[in-house]
Amino acid sequence: MTKKTYYITTPIYYPSAKLHIGNTYTTVAADALARFKRLTGYDVMLLTGTDEHGQKIQRLAEAKGVTPIEYVDEIVAGIKKLWDMMNISYDKFIRTTEDYHVKAVQKIFKKLYDQGDIYKGSYEGLYCTPCESFWTETQAADGKCPDCGRPVEKTKEEAYFFKMSKYAPKLIKYIEDHPDFIQPESRKNEMLNNFLRPGLQDLCVSRTSFNWGIPVTFDEKHVIYVWIDALANYITALGYGSKNEELYNKYWPADVHLVGKDILRFHTIYWPIMLMALGLPVPKKVFGHGWLLVDGGKMSKSKGNVVDPVVLVDNFGADAVRYYLLREIPFGSDGLFNNEIFIKRINADLANDLGNLLSRTCAMVEKYFDGVVQEPTKKEQIDDELIKLALETPEKVEKNMNDLRIPEALDNIWDLITRSNKYIDETTPWILAKDESKKDRLGTVLYNLLESLRIISICVSPYLPETSAKMYKQLNTNVVSWDSITSFNGTKAGTKISKGELLFPRIDVDKKIEELNKLKEEKKAAQNSNEKSLKKQITIDDFDKIDLRVAKVLKCENIKGSNKLLKFQLQMGKEQRQVVSGIAKYYKPEELVGKYVVFVANLKPVKLKGEISEGMILSAASDDDSKLSILSLSDEIPSGSTVR
Ligand code: ME8
Ligand code: MG
Repeated sequence: MTKKTYYITTPIYYPSAKLHIGNTYTTVAADALARFKRLTGYDVMLLTGTDEHGQKIQRLAEAKGVTPIEYVDEIVAGIKKLWDMMNISYDKFIRTTEDYHVKAVQKIFKKLYDQGDIYKGSYEGLYCTPCESFWTETQAADGKCPDCGRPVEKTKEEAYFFKMSKYAPKLIKYIEDHPDFIQPESRKNEMLNNFLRPGLQDLCVSRTSFNWGIPVTFDEKHVIYVWIDALANYITALGYGSKNEELYNKYWPADVHLVGKDILRFHTIYWPIMLMALGLPVPKKVFGHGWLLVDGGKMSKSKGNVVDPVVLVDNFGADAVRYYLLREIPFGSDGLFNNEIFIKRINADLANDLGNLLSRTCAMVEKYFDGVVQEPTKKEQIDDELIKLALETPEKVEKNMNDLRIPEALDNIWDLITRSNKYIDETTPWILAKDESKKDRLGTVLYNLLESLRIISICVSPYLPETSAKMYKQLNTNVVSWDSITSFNGTKAGTKISKGELLFPRIDVDKKIEELNKLKEEKKAAQNSNEKSLKKQITIDDFDKIDLRVAKVLKCENIKGSNKLLKFQLQMGKEQRQVVSGIAKYYKPEELVGKYVVFVANLKPVKLKGEISEGMILSAASDDDSKLSILSLSDEIPSGSTVR
């Protein structure tokens, strides 16, 4: 019999910065699902990868003085390393710069053009480069991207457009007829009411203002809009549009695209419309998960509050991180990442509940039976309760996983762990051990615990693969299939268990948090000094063009109508200059009078808030702009002196 297939995808990540724990979340969840499906008999395809084109990447590469491909190669290597560390069992990793993808996307674009769904026009509007998304004047009314809040840029260029509107009625009907298509439910209504029903505009699908993208084959100065390029990955990775479409035929349509809620719009509107236009089936389900927050806010590089998954894995192991993400964050809602809650979870659930159950059980088998598993004898009522729950657990887990309720599936497993610990307290093996006539009963109790642990070890394997493998080893079992947990007899009498190291040593919460904080500070400092990408090299002649001078602050005042700007009167030798500087947030005007500052004296004058500014005062700010300090000198150096 051929196995049923299951195709699950993660978003393909922008290789624009190091990934944080929020990015890791999507992939860990997808991996747990993929592992669960494999365990329960499916032929699984788990796809992940990187989304390497677009203006954002091009600008980052330019700023670093390297080519875009050099820039992304390095980051992609880091991403792959992170997935290895996290034990992500992906079946394929796609890079959108790979040739087969480029060719397939070009084919798709040409087909849509040939059939009249893509046409040439001109684009005038607003663009958010970090999100690579277009907005209308009304959508970005305050000049900020409605998604991320960063400023949008005005763009005007000749461009190709996709007739989204043509397919909107068909998509609305599809969504209405398939209530499971967009999950969770609340997100479905948001897509329908906020985007689809008000009417779709045609989508601008090419750019000419930069060239880091897939060229339009029939009009080479255009590159294909990065979201068209990116979304296509889900089928090009399977060989769609290549000579060999075997995998495409086998796995498409996807069973589920797992994405963050910020990109649900692209996956439930643009993507199904693209597929409809191509005459291809749409994915069965798109699931939008929530945000991982830190101290109430969204984690983002620009806020400087990102949690580095590598540090967590180094300190606590991949399974602890996976466990926290999968159990603590309600799947579909926002959730908090917090070191203290994280460590307490490890101590309570992993070290105490699970770890102790295994180590207590193994220790008793060693002590009372030299580590040899006994044949169980007569059952008592208390055994039946444990056995019943053990046999019901896999079913419950499966039901929850099929409905994408990952934390609830873990709740089911932990119910069995808790029940097993309680069984130890109820049966008190250490008392049975004192009575030679109760040796059989003692053997049976320990057998039941070992069998329960075997079932637990199989159930946790999709979420905690390393822990599960350690448990198999200590239990010395190779009866680890999903089928083997439909009956309570997979543990073999006569097996010698081998007690090993603790699964999760207890962590001293305060000490560890202090350590982590220290590490973070050190990292920050190191990052500030070298990781910030250096600008392109210049020659001494380039530098010599800048005339830096010492100046004395004669007068300083706030500028009316601005809470950012200060107006300075500076003495530079014999000359007097007016300079406007955006540092009002950091200094009171009177603090600065009399100071000797450094300023760029040959900068072309500009007007700020109607005031002329003839130069720029030098200062340094922390990355998050929370602190700033101007450069000042002692009064021994006369004003007007050159700074070199
Ligand atoms: O969007 N919490 O890539 P990306 C949870 N290249 N999830 C988060 C998060 C947070 N704090 N921050 C980011 C892209 N994510 C596109 C995808 S797919 C054809 C193209 C999630 O690197 C985010 O929601 O910006 C998304 O699912 C994933 O990380 C990748 O984001
Ligand atoms: Mg993003």
